Amino acid sequence: MGKTMIKVVFVFLCALMVSSAWAQEQIPEKPKVLVVYYSREGHTKQVAQELAKKFNADLEQLIDKKKRIGPIAFSAAGKDAVAGNLTKLEPLTHDPQQYEIILIGTPSWFGNVTPAVRTFITQHDLSKKRIGVFGTTHLTGVENALSQAATLLAPDRAGEIPSLPLRHRDLVPEVLPSKIDAFYQQLK
Ligand SMILES: Cc1cc2nc3c(=O)[nH]c(=O)nc-3n(C[C@H](O)[C@H](O)[C@H](O)COP(=O)(O)O)c2cc1C
Repeated sequence: MGKTMIKVVFVFLCALMVSSAWAQEQIPEKPKVLVVYYSREGHTKQVAQELAKKFNADLEQLIDKKKRIGPIAFSAAGKDAVAGNLTKLEPLTHDPQQYEIILIGTPSWFGNVTPAVRTFITQHDLSKKRIGVFGTTHLTGVENALSQAATLLAPDRAGEIPSLPLRHRDLVPEVLPSKIDAFYQQLK
């Protein structure tokens, strides 16, 4: 190979390296997504896990230090939710500030957000984040609970926050994936 040929190959390789570095800079990284949820009986957890798969997200389960299982605890849980009481949470395992999109999930308790989720929202400044809310109920109240969550998160743009309200009958393979897909499209 002559000297000129070597020079041509060298220049070509340099150009290739520069253009591939430039291209890498141009491709925006996928936003980091965190799914934060509270679940007492597992329904909201099921949805959170499906959302984490769809969004390629990390999962943060909120653990309420207050006992929520058993008849007396059930009644106290309802009262706390209706009164808008806060609670004490176990420390988080992820830092929400490291994420661009945060999906927040709650069961509906008499049409209210759970104390654990209310506490999470109150303790973190999420005003700069893209937010979606999701929730489950047996039959009633989930739309109200999610609109309450959205208002706590951003009173001035609560109506714009994508929302995924679900009933137990929706948590089946014939229904859930399409609802999650519609939610995903809203947040993309
Ligand atoms: C304190 C409390 C209040 C509830 N209130 C209602 C209600 O008003 N209407 C309803 O259909 N389900 C109600 N539920 C049922 C939950 O909303 C439903 O089972 C939800 O999917 C539970 O989510 P989880 O399994 O993630 O804990 C209530 C449950 C609890 C513990």
